[in-house]
Amino acid sequence: MAEPLAPAPAASRPGSVRVRVPGKINLALCVGPRRDDGFHDLATVFQSVSLADELTAAPAPAGVVTVAVHGPGADLVGAPEDNLAVRAARLLAATYAPQAGAHLEIAKGIPVAGGMAGGSADAAAALLACDRLWGLGLPTEALLDLAATLGSDVPFTLLGGTAVGHGRGERLAPVEVDHTFHWVLVTSPDGLSTPAVFRRFDELHPPDTVPAPVVPDGLLAALAAGDPVALGAALRNDLAAPALELRPDLADVLAAGTSAGAVGAMVSGSGPTCAFLARDAAHATGVAATLQDRLPGRTVYVVVAPASIGFPHAGRG
Ligand code: C5P
Repeated sequence: MAEPLAPAPAASRPGSVRVRVPGKINLALCVGPRRDDGFHDLATVFQSVSLADELTAAPAPAGVVTVAVHGPGADLVGAPEDNLAVRAARLLAATYAPQAGAHLEIAKGIPVAGGMAGGSADAAAALLACDRLWGLGLPTEALLDLAATLGSDVPFTLLGGTAVGHGRGERLAPVEVDHTFHWVLVTSPDGLSTPAVFRRFDELHPPDTVPAPVVPDGLLAALAAGDPVALGAALRNDLAAPALELRPDLADVLAAGTSAGAVGAMVSGSGPTCAFLARDAAHATGVAATLQDRLPGRTVYVVVAPASIGFPHAGRG
C-alpha cells in the first residue's frame, strides 16, 4: 500500500502568509525593584538585530492550531502546547476569529534560549501572520494588547526597530534611528533561564535598595548621532551581574570581545548570548574572526541593527 502523502510544507501551501521577525538586544536593561505581581519595572532600550526567525501560517481546519519548528536549536523548543506562537494564534482566534485555524511553520534563526527574545518573536510573528491569514486587518494597538498578555518582550518584537520600554517592557515608545550599527554576537550551547536570572538579581539587591530604573544618559544621543564609541560607553545591563554569577564562563567571553577591540561589550538581555559593538562592518568582521578563533565551540554571528519586520513572498492562493 502506498504511504500517505506528507502534508506540503506550510510555506508552499496556497494562501499562506510568511513573516520574518528579528531577535533583539537590549542596549540598556535597567531593572527596578520586584513588584507585587512578581515582575520588575524596567527602563530598557530594545533594538532588533538582523538574526530572524521566519514563520509561515497556512490555512487549517476550524479550531486547529499546529506547529512545526525547524533549524538550529529546534529540538530545544518546548512542546507544541507550550509554544508561545501556538498560544498567540489561539489567543487571536479566541478573541477575534473563533472559527479560524492555522498551521504554523517556524524556521529558527534566532538562538533558542539565548536572551534574544526568540520565543517572543515567534509569538509576534504568529499574531501578524494569522491576522493576515484570517483577513482580520486588526490595528497594531489591538495586536499589542494581546502581545502584552503573552510576555513582556512580545510587544517589542511585534514592532521591531528601536524602542524605549517601560513597565515590565510592554509600554513602548518607538525611536527613529537612521544609522546602522554593527554587532558581533556570541551564543552559548546552553540556555539560561530568565526567571532564574531575575531571582538572582533579587538576591543581590534587597528591594528597598533598588532605585526606579532610568535609561542611561547619553544612550539615545549616541543612537541619534550614529556614534558607536559613545553608544559602547553608554551600554548598561543590570542583569549582567546575576547572569555572570549563574554562568561564570561568560566573563571569559566578554573579556575576549573587549581584547578583540570591540567598542562595547555586554550580556544580551538575561543571557547567555553576549553582544559586542564594532565601529563599522569591516571592524565587526575582524572582531568576529578573532572571537571565533579564541572561543572554539561557540557560534559567532555578525549582525546589523536596527532591523525590521518583513513580509517576504509566501504561497499565493
Ligand atoms: O514576561 P515573560 O514571560 O517573558 O517573563 C518571564 C519571567 O521573567 C517572569 O516570570 C519574571 O520572572 C521575569 N521578568 C521580570 N520582570 C520583567 C520581565 C520578566 O521579573 N519586567
